[in-house]
Amino acid sequence: MFHLLPLTTFLLIQRVLSTPLSTPDPLPLVIWHGLGDQHDAEGLHSVGDLAKETNPGTFVYYIRIDDDGGNDRTATFFGNLTLQLQKVCDDLASHPILSTAPAINGLGFSQGGQFLRGYVERCNNPPVHNLVTLGSQHNGIAQYQTCGATDWFCKGWQALLRGNTWSNYVQSHLVPAQYYRSVNETTGEASEEYLEHSNFLADVNNEREEKNATYAKNLASLENLVMYMFEDDVTVIPKESGWFAQVNATSEEVTWLKDRTIYKEDWIGLKKLDEKGGLRFDTMPGGHMTLGDEDLKNMFAKWFAPPKTSWVQALNQVQEIVEL
Ligand SMILES: *[C@@H]1O[C@H](CO)[C@@H](O)[C@H](O)[C@H]1NC(C)=O
Ligand SMILES: *[C@@H]1O[C@H](CO)[C@@H](O)[C@H](O)[C@H]1NC(C)=O
Ligand SMILES: *[C@@H]1O[C@H](CO)[C@@H](O)[C@H](O)[C@H]1NC(C)=O
Ligand SMILES: *[C@@H]1O[C@H](CO)[C@@H](O)[C@H](O)[C@H]1NC(C)=O
Repeated sequence: MFHLLPLTTFLLIQRVLSTPLSTPDPLPLVIWHGLGDQHDAEGLHSVGDLAKETNPGTFVYYIRIDDDGGNDRTATFFGNLTLQLQKVCDDLASHPILSTAPAINGLGFSQGGQFLRGYVERCNNPPVHNLVTLGSQHNGIAQYQTCGATDWFCKGWQALLRGNTWSNYVQSHLVPAQYYRSVNETTGEASEEYLEHSNFLADVNNEREEKNATYAKNLASLENLVMYMFEDDVTVIPKESGWFAQVNATSEEVTWLKDRTIYKEDWIGLKKLDEKGGLRFDTMPGGHMTLGDEDLKNMFAKWFAPPKTSWVQALNQVQEIVEL
């Protein structure tokens, strides 16, 4: 034992010293903004800058449906999500940096969260490592959000929605209608109209009889799906949609994800992801999309930091040698 120690020690030192100490680069980060926002908005970029400050060397890409900022904002209200998502898939797969990265991280703001989940399920090329969604509508909305008093644009499209959410015109032209979800009051299950007409949500949630196995396989391949709900959210109705929960509109009783069929029968891979420890529920203080710099930095450090530093790897190696 005693005569072996110096040799072991020597090996340890040699191993530690020969391990490069530089931290590997973080994975690129793609951000999908929310309703009424645009890819070149200052506020959005200040979030991206904070991500770079937290994890230096992060390449940030802001998802856009149109290079022109104004058109990109319009596309958050108007368009067919099938086509919008396909465009994003094509853009990421052909991007010179993103397409050559081993993986990317994803951050979805509000509706951008369920759209990024759609990206993972339908395309996932380049593959997503961690997907973080902030106040998203994973189980859809039961009510359209209230428009600001002078937001005539918002009021205009809402007028169109009233009464004809399920028409083909609305389902292929108005974005929020494509994640609107109604339930049968008696059974609490998805309504017939929703299952028949929903152009986006019923499909990506695999709620129809015929399930797409690729969706489940891709979502379960994430390292983590991290869903943040805003504690005092009054914009998203119900806010628990951010955690994939179902709420009874009359009694306000919440059925949490793990008690729902989508989880129990694992329609989209959430159960599988959970079993490997990758399904996370967290909260943010405040109302919808009120984001404090400190909370954001903590989140970036937790989910978008580069892989373990070489020091940690070196220490693991030391431990392995000691155990030999
Ligand atoms: C399932 O989804 C994949 C990925 O989007 C698609 O290529 C495939 O055609 C879909 N399968 C069915 C049966 O719709
Ligand atoms: C949206 O676009 C897709 C692809 O072109 C099309 O198949 C689908 O019918 C459109 N959705 C609606 C509701 O029109
Ligand atoms: C709700 O579900 C019940 C039981 O399946 C059914 O009889 C009823 O027609 C449904 N209601 C609507 C509005 O679809
Ligand atoms: C929702 O709550 C109401 C009021 O408590 C109740 O009558 C109804 O049965 C509930 N619906 C479901 C689907 O549980």
